[in-house]
Amino acid sequence: MSKTLNLTLHVWRQKGPSDVGGFETYPVKDIDDHMSFLEMLDVVNERLLQDGKDPIAFDSDCREGICGMCGLVINGQPHGPNSATTTCQLHMRHYSDGDEITIEPWRAGPFPVIKDLIVDRGAFDRIIAAGGYISASTGSAPEANGLPVPKKDADRSMDAAACIGCGACVAACPNASAMLFVAAKVAHLGLLPQGQPERMDRVKKMVAQMDAEGFGHCTNHYECMAACPKEIDVEFIARMNRDLMRSVVLEKEYAEKVGGAG
Ligand code: SF4
Ligand code: FES
Repeated sequence: MSKTLNLTLHVWRQKGPSDVGGFETYPVKDIDDHMSFLEMLDVVNERLLQDGKDPIAFDSDCREGICGMCGLVINGQPHGPNSATTTCQLHMRHYSDGDEITIEPWRAGPFPVIKDLIVDRGAFDRIIAAGGYISASTGSAPEANGLPVPKKDADRSMDAAACIGCGACVAACPNASAMLFVAAKVAHLGLLPQGQPERMDRVKKMVAQMDAEGFGHCTNHYECMAACPKEIDVEFIARMNRDLMRSVVLEKEYAEKVGGAG
């Protein structure tokens, strides 16, 4: 049996990137506790439209926890109170009648607010474009078992590939570090044979782009892993740092060799 909730929402409203923005309070009545958090916001928006007001802008797409589009800071927690849960998979049954809920966008310099609760996560796209791919020509699809991959590497790569690029790790980190995201993207390719030819180049380019975008560095708060809806392990950050060190050493050795030959 469903229950209905009466809530008070404190929602960040910001007309555009140059607007200073601020919280607005909305008393919301008769919310079915079977609704998802985003469905609750849909209802709020329908009511705002009926009253001739501007609806709250927020991102979503799949609403199944797989696309990475949704992302709200709910009562101070990226993606809300439940672990391993995206905003779109959070349901109102986790709230009680009379609750006050504060809803904000991701807060990080490299994710500027576009409007209300929507931020520009183009910085992540540029990090991927810097090296998060395999450019070797592979021809037509090879036979699935033609390239053996050890089970533990395949599993680890799949764990890293679970990252949906939502940005909660950045929003949770006091340094606005994107290292969990970048580490996951570096690892899911770097653990497979197909990812080896560009492995060293990839990590250097992606980390350089991460720095250029203004993300901070990891100082081991582990807030990223706690907020991550896909439970990406911070162990991948250590792995990325090892690859980065190796790439610097290899580059130095190569430069010495080439210099020596000259
Ligand atoms: S590492 Fe986790 S929190 Fe960060 S972008 Fe990927 S899925 Fe989102
Ligand atoms: S809307 Fe796709 S993960 Fe939430």
